[in-house]
Amino acid sequence: MTKPINILGFAGSLRKRSYNRALLRAAEELIPDDARLEIFDLDGIPGYNQDLDPVKPEKVIEFKARIKAADAILMVTPEYNYSIPGVLKNAIDWASRPPTDNSFLGKPVAVMSASTGMLGGARAQYHLRQVFVFLDMHSINKPEVIVTFANQKFDENGTLTDEKARDLIKQLLRALIDWTKKLKSASV
Ligand SMILES: Cc1cc2nc3c(=O)[nH]c(=O)nc-3n(C[C@H](O)[C@H](O)[C@H](O)COP(=O)(O)O)c2cc1C
Repeated sequence: MTKPINILGFAGSLRKRSYNRALLRAAEELIPDDARLEIFDLDGIPGYNQDLDPVKPEKVIEFKARIKAADAILMVTPEYNYSIPGVLKNAIDWASRPPTDNSFLGKPVAVMSASTGMLGGARAQYHLRQVFVFLDMHSINKPEVIVTFANQKFDENGTLTDEKARDLIKQLLRALIDWTKKLKSASV
């Protein structure tokens, strides 16, 4: 039997009842049989300081190792002031350094966003996609998982109740897994 594709997922919100964390849990629930989704919590990653690149904090060392061990990455982002929240950008900055050891290099990546607003974090997603270019990641373009009016799409337990969004997540995961398999087979 072939090994399942190992996806590392993280969300750019530290809030306990975060819609984006809940969206990531929905992906965990909907993951197909030929893949595994492990969730990494960004809580505890300190503010980036280039002086610390040679002696990285423990949590950053762990984050970099988990990214490198993963076959693919799933990022879930809120939108703060029309862009990527500092928590997520900060974590990406740490993991991308030093330039000779960019943990994201060549990884397939998919993105999802949720916001309480009518654009569902789309602007943050597009900023994040721009960052993927510099990180030299291979991102999935479609489908776009953009959860608008998130306060109406989850129940009180944080379960995603919107069928259309659940279906799009399944499609996105399928696309990410298939893309990862293609890249893996091309590199052997
Ligand atoms: C500092 C801050 C800035 C925000 N800016 C935006 C924004 O630009 N666009 C938007 O749609 N929602 C914005 N929001 C609302 C977020 O979409 C909402 O708080 C959402 O629940 C955050 O994601 P979370 O539930 O995963 O924590 C902002 C919220 C905060 C706290």
